[in-house]
Amino acid sequence: MFHLTEEHLAVKEAARQFAQNELKPGVIDRDRHMHYPKEQVRQMAELGFLGMMVPPEYGGGGMDTLAYVLAMEEISKVDASCAVIMSVNNSLVCWGLETYGTETQKQQYLPKLATGEWIGSFCLSEPEAGSDATSQRTTAVDMGDHYLINGTKNWITNGGTSNVHLVIAQTYPEKGHRGINAFIVETAWPGVTIGAKEDKLGIRSSDTHTIMYSDVKVPKENRIGDDGFGFKFAMNTLNGGRIGIAAQALGIAAGAYELSVAYSKEREAFGKPISKHQAIAFKLADMATEIEAARLLVYRSAILKDQGVDYSQAAAMAKLFASEVAMRHTVEAVQIHGGYGYVKEYHVERLMRDAKITQIYEGTSEVQRIVISRNVLDGELYVPMPGQLAASV
Ligand code: CAA
Repeated sequence: MFHLTEEHLAVKEAARQFAQNELKPGVIDRDRHMHYPKEQVRQMAELGFLGMMVPPEYGGGGMDTLAYVLAMEEISKVDASCAVIMSVNNSLVCWGLETYGTETQKQQYLPKLATGEWIGSFCLSEPEAGSDATSQRTTAVDMGDHYLINGTKNWITNGGTSNVHLVIAQTYPEKGHRGINAFIVETAWPGVTIGAKEDKLGIRSSDTHTIMYSDVKVPKENRIGDDGFGFKFAMNTLNGGRIGIAAQALGIAAGAYELSVAYSKEREAFGKPISKHQAIAFKLADMATEIEAARLLVYRSAILKDQGVDYSQAAAMAKLFASEVAMRHTVEAVQIHGGYGYVKEYHVERLMRDAKITQIYEGTSEVQRIVISRNVLDGELYVPMPGQLAASV
């Protein structure tokens, strides 16, 4: 088993208290009315949940990835919308900038993003480039001292509220993915238009928009990394993002499981609590087992990232498995709750709707299988190194 430090346990407990006390009371209403959780995001910022892994010198918490997934798990048990807002800001935007940004870029943007003064978006997906992310139609034309960006991005988390976008765009179409660049674009700049807000099945209070860029002038110093590094930037950053979404999926599954255990002990049928009926008890046993397996994969991927070991395959496995577990077991949670599971008041129908997106965004389950199978077929069978699983973290 993993050994969690006092600090990890404190972070997990703080996230749990916040989720149960502050997020739970309004979560049904926010979901129903697609209300962006502005006040709750402010509270998350105050608690340090928006820049957890950013070094303190840039205004962040200086924590490791394991602390981040522990917080993500607890928040996702209650409010998966708040969790994705947190995840995109932490693991795609802040981590991407901190890892690949110049010192000037970091000083200019990280303190605002890590403290929640600003919120960030990661703009890769397009109307015709989802899983096939190399087919970028958004262009970034080199104009000497600046780039001109034109194009449309889809399904952008935090799209209506973010102040800064990390935008992936094609500069040299003839070079394929090696001609792609990544840029820091401020939403207040001329030419950035926020399109319609999506009316979604789940994570309804998160803010998902289409974004249009029309002749947006981006200074050259806002390109991230070397010329042509944009696709690698996106893939490397998404490897960490996938750990965050795996933790979200784990939390959704665990939240539905906790509700199911409690309900099954209270609800009586045929003269005894339904938990005493084997049909329900066995469902709970399967849920507990698979959630624990997902937890091990998620924590392992976080620990590998913290240890500086290649974690792309571990992250893909964690996301693939945890999101499938979330979908399967939120459906079971609704079944355990019977008719009550089908109404909003009991939370599990929302968790079931929220679970679905974890199989889609930051790489569908099919994309995770591409990543895993390529590693497997390349002969890179993943075997944890001795000591990794027992590592004191
Ligand atoms: N880590 C590091 N590098 C990777 C990588 C990974 N996981 N996956 C691919 N690469 C590298 C490859 O090694 C290759 O580099 P070289 O040319 O130097 O060898 C390069 O990227 C191109 O890869 P492929 O040749 O494999 O490209 P492909 O077109 O065959 O397939 C893909 C690539 C894996 C399918 C990729 O396009 C992909 O991951 N697609 C999914 C995109 C995605 O996750 N989108 C999520 C949107 S963001 C979002 O959801 C945020 C939000 O708001 C919630």
